[in-house]
Amino acid sequence: MLKVYSHTDADVKPLLPQVSKYTEMAELMKLPFWIFAEGSKPIGIVTAGKEPLQMLAPIGTPVAVINLIQKGQHARVLKNFASQSLKLALENDAQLVTVDISSEEKNTVDSFLEMDFKVLADSFTMTLPLNREFGMPKNLELRLAPREEMNKWIEAARESLSGSADVVMERILKQLSEFPENLLDLYYSMEKFYFANLDGYGIGILNFSPKAGRISNVGVTPSRRGQGHGREMMLFGLRQLRAAGCRQAKLRVHVDNKPALSLYKSLGFEVSERRKFLIWEDEAA
Ligand SMILES: CC(C)(COP(=O)(O)OP(=O)(O)OC[C@H]1O[C@@H](n2cnc3c(N)ncnc32)[C@H](O)[C@@H]1OP(=O)(O)O)[C@@H](O)C(=O)NCCC(=O)NCCS
Repeated sequence: MLKVYSHTDADVKPLLPQVSKYTEMAELMKLPFWIFAEGSKPIGIVTAGKEPLQMLAPIGTPVAVINLIQKGQHARVLKNFASQSLKLALENDAQLVTVDISSEEKNTVDSFLEMDFKVLADSFTMTLPLNREFGMPKNLELRLAPREEMNKWIEAARESLSGSADVVMERILKQLSEFPENLLDLYYSMEKFYFANLDGYGIGILNFSPKAGRISNVGVTPSRRGQGHGREMMLFGLRQLRAAGCRQAKLRVHVDNKPALSLYKSLGFEVSERRKFLIWEDEAA
């Protein structure tokens, strides 16, 4: 029997240590969350909040994030979790609900799809051990974007990432361009944002997180693709991650993004997981 505990319930305490990885953000941001459990086993979590929690809709839009914790559960339990978690999200007025889930959880993915969730992204997580040197760029100048050029960086990113199969990033960039200055400050503090210049002209962007050991985006302006710049920018990013002490680099790439996949594979990245990012949106909102 699936039971729901609110984060304020007195009897939720014994479950908290098992789910700390998923509740960290909610606790930090003081967001309400609910744990679904079968006996003493937590199955999943629903966190309610407002944009820019997911950066997919205008600021203030009520959203909910569903996390699956216990994998390999009986299909009936997972189906039950999927329907109850959406119901709870809607009771909390969510206009947008997301689930980030391993593709291996096929039954659960199907349960969400049956409830009108759509696949917003189908991507590979790739990793590369940083156990070798990466050279300095020969042709490009990589320039760290100062905070006052963040809007320029976002514009350059919209152009450089265009045509990619990744619609999530497209939506995030659209929302970012409407961010107030205080939220842009926060975003800027989270990653390193670079412009790639060739002979003084902007030809691409790169951003990465030394803290997470992640290359977040690499993009070359469409007319300059296929000339070796993407590779040079990636090598620069990997060099920076290694210099920051990261032992491994990770990234996500849409399964249909052939140029990017082939670039990452040629650098030695290997697929570690395939994940689906599912979204339910209130059509009337
Ligand atoms: C992915 C991207 C950054 C590659 O940059 P690029 O400058 O065009 O790539 P390069 O010229 O440096 O090529 C490097 C490698 O990428 C791969 N590649 C590049 N273009 C390719 C294409 N059209 N088809 C297949 N592989 C391709 C090849 O493996 C190539 O190596 P090779 O030249 O030895 O064959 C660029 O295509 C881009 O900006 N795409 C849109 C944004 C995007 O999808 N970013 C990744 C998001 S995760």
